[in-house]
Amino acid sequence: MKTGFHQKEKLETLGKLTAGLIHEITNPATIAQKSAELLKIQLDKLNKLAPILGQYKISTQVLDDVFKYLGPGDEIEEGMSVISITEKCQWEDEICEWLEENGFEDGYEMAVDLVDWGIAEEDLEELKNFIPTNSIRTVLEWYSATIQSQKFTSDINEATHRINQLVGSVRYYSHMDNGIEKHPVDLKKSLENSILLLRHKWKLKNIKIHTSFSSNSNIIVGFESALNQVWTNLIDNAIDALDFDGFLKVKSETLESGIRVSLIDSGTGIPKEIQPMVFNEFFTTKGFGKGTGLGLDIVNQIIHQHDGKVYVNSRPGHTEFIVELPFN
Ligand SMILES: Nc1ncnc2c1ncn2[C@@H]1O[C@H](COP(=O)(O)OP(=O)(O)O)[C@@H](O)[C@H]1O
Ligand SMILES: [Mg+2]
Repeated sequence: MKTGFHQKEKLETLGKLTAGLIHEITNPATIAQKSAELLKIQLDKLNKLAPILGQYKISTQVLDDVFKYLGPGDEIEEGMSVISITEKCQWEDEICEWLEENGFEDGYEMAVDLVDWGIAEEDLEELKNFIPTNSIRTVLEWYSATIQSQKFTSDINEATHRINQLVGSVRYYSHMDNGIEKHPVDLKKSLENSILLLRHKWKLKNIKIHTSFSSNSNIIVGFESALNQVWTNLIDNAIDALDFDGFLKVKSETLESGIRVSLIDSGTGIPKEIQPMVFNEFFTTKGFGKGTGLGLDIVNQIIHQHDGKVYVNSRPGHTEFIVELPFN
């Protein structure tokens, strides 16, 4: 642990942390609860649709093809930002008309969703090549419920991850993890898991992640969950600093006595004058309720606990957090 981190300071930190935590946890907790309710509605819909799809003799293979053809419904935000409201309304009207000609009494709600997912009239027309016309409505309802279920699942995943991270900071500061022993940790796996855990967040910004791992050993002896927390905190920050279509590179190299991990993002960069402060506890440039200013302090403490080093090089468009960990 940090030396000179006395009992009184610890309690003060814990007090500030708890106050912030209660405020911050409310948001993701509400999202998780609401999303779980909405997910249940979609799952009930899917349950009701299953026997109807059976009656139309629509196989899972056909449903797979429909899904592949219409896509996973997640690249829309991108297209959406470049079309105007008028164009969007026009598109919705076209789709609504098509739906009403093809078995929907009131197709408006469905039309809005389909447009959000980037689906055009030609795509719908094409569907007639794989499914009977009288089943179109049921198939589209199934498609919509499937996409919504996936979306709510991702929302729950992201919200609970956030709660976990917040609770993780308190666990860390209150030393609840004391007593766990160091053991061999595969940094490649640990980095890949962290990237996966934050998938929802980087997907949303269409961030490209490039990984390159050392072909030699990626194994060090350490505290696995603490190291996972290091990577998620660093990746989380990189994503926050990146714009839409940004780039993040995650790299590991084997050194003589340990492993070096670098996380390089093409984001805003850290201004020279604040670079010496970023590792301080409670230092944040993010708005209220967005940043806790604890991420890098925790990173710093965990890395020192492993007798490692962490430092940053940054200029606009290129920020590199480098972590060096000894093998033992
Ligand atoms: N990759 C990065 N690019 C730009 N700024 C960063 C990056 N990582 C950290 N920072 C800066 O360091 C500050 C502290 O980070 P951190 O301790 O994780 O707290 P928080 O993320 O809650 O603000 C951030 O508010 C941000 O200004
Ligand atoms: Mg952070």
